[in-house]
Amino acid sequence: MSSRKGPFKGRTVAVVNDLSLDEQRYLYRKAGELKRLVRSGGDASEFRLNDKDYSVYLIFMEDSTRTRESFRNAAKFLGARTNLFDTATSSFNKNESMSDAVKMLYGYSDESCFVIRSKLEGVCRWLEESLGRYADICGRPRPAFINAGDGKHEHPTQEFLDEFSFIEQLGGRDERIHLALTGDLYHGRTIHSKADGLKLFREVEVDLVAPEILGMPAHYTQRMRDNGFLVREYESLDEYLASGKVAPIWYFTRLQLERMGDEVLEKAATLRKSVTFRKDMIGLLPEGTRFYHPLPRDRTAPTNPTFLDETPLNGWDSQSANGYWTRIALIAMAAGLLGADFEGEAKAPQAFEDDFVHEARVVQRDKPEYKVGIKPVEDGLVIDHISSGDSIRDIWGHLDAIRRMLKLDVRGGHGVFHNNQGSYKGIISLPDVTSFGGRDLKKLAAIAPGCTLNLVHEHRVVKKYRLSMPPRIYGFDEISCKNELCISHPTSLEGATTEFHRKSERGDPGGAKFVCRYCEREHAFREIWDL
Ligand code: CP
Repeated sequence: MSSRKGPFKGRTVAVVNDLSLDEQRYLYRKAGELKRLVRSGGDASEFRLNDKDYSVYLIFMEDSTRTRESFRNAAKFLGARTNLFDTATSSFNKNESMSDAVKMLYGYSDESCFVIRSKLEGVCRWLEESLGRYADICGRPRPAFINAGDGKHEHPTQEFLDEFSFIEQLGGRDERIHLALTGDLYHGRTIHSKADGLKLFREVEVDLVAPEILGMPAHYTQRMRDNGFLVREYESLDEYLASGKVAPIWYFTRLQLERMGDEVLEKAATLRKSVTFRKDMIGLLPEGTRFYHPLPRDRTAPTNPTFLDETPLNGWDSQSANGYWTRIALIAMAAGLLGADFEGEAKAPQAFEDDFVHEARVVQRDKPEYKVGIKPVEDGLVIDHISSGDSIRDIWGHLDAIRRMLKLDVRGGHGVFHNNQGSYKGIISLPDVTSFGGRDLKKLAAIAPGCTLNLVHEHRVVKKYRLSMPPRIYGFDEISCKNELCISHPTSLEGATTEFHRKSERGDPGGAKFVCRYCEREHAFREIWDL
């Protein structure tokens, strides 16, 4: 085992946010130092691992030129063992799971870093979890996983090289940025990563330029606004250039035809026209404008056409080269080589408070409780205020779901009744049941947030608990991510445990949003359940 102990050792980068802003700044500082040293012929030995027991595995299950080759060259520069794992001829074709294959590779070296591109989303988060557990059992160092692009989710290392390039253009300043994102904003994962990557700048103005059908998914636009960005939207480059508020940094993307359905494909030519730059537009750009593009660009119909290649607008060639420097720095961090001089705020692990059970005041009444339509409970539990305010039909559905999910096939009753607000609520009475296990309590809170659980003794409510939406819902057979490309989707057969994190809660608990732990797809509360 190596003696390297940098603070980033074994860290996974599945999404941009896996590095704090200070950690991202550190990465850019190191990449800049390295680039200057090498370009000036200086001694860059502090950036070399020279360790053939450190393996960099390149697992590319989707095509790639830049990302794969820059990582391969970065690993060579570092002096690590480099393995290009050929997925086309591997046992993936014999239905081997990804975690089995990675576990096997992990066994071949002292320490390792896996660079993975996949159609499936959330793969690196899943492997971080499953291989992390395995490494702990073996008492060996946890491997690092670096997401080299997963479906249309994220491409964090592209984001790092993009931000590094923008900072270079801005002379090292990160106070403010005004940029235009154009092309296929719907499918472009490099675009989606900008919703977090641009937080590096203290003031951000983003102009989204794309026809509606290729527009930024609403949750990413919302995330940009939540991050304090000023966001403007335009349907075409013509409309944008006529706005008079044109950015000096443009980020083009190609139309990702391989990810489009037939309906969008039929319109591809018209759609492309609206986001393709023309010669007559040059005069409308602010002075010093530069264009960027993650590449590859379409050789038959590039949105940033070839007549721009030898003009000062071309920022994409140096941007592409920056992939090499930033990826050397990133692997060196993950290997524990860099990081001793890091100062600033480190990424804090995500914490969840199990704050969903709150004791409520018991109001004593002279008359027996819950007599309306339900036999009064002498001793037992009563679940009240179920789906309060929903339609009668929905409440019946939820009552049925609660009984099924909690396996409440015991004596008792349930029904729909008036609540105090003039609408309806559900009640389930469970005579003789005196407690719920913690897991069932969580399940109840997750399926019927807002309900109360009443402990009844000798016809009186002696304890009352109000259940709110748990911050994390996981480990139940009845939930699943609805993104078919997610690693946790039942069809992926990788065995990832479904897990949702609460994102927001409006007054109405049914309005809460949940994001999948792996692919970060946003789900409405009811959508997470398979009922
Ligand atoms: N920018 C990018 O990800 O390019 P490749 O698909 O060639 O890796």
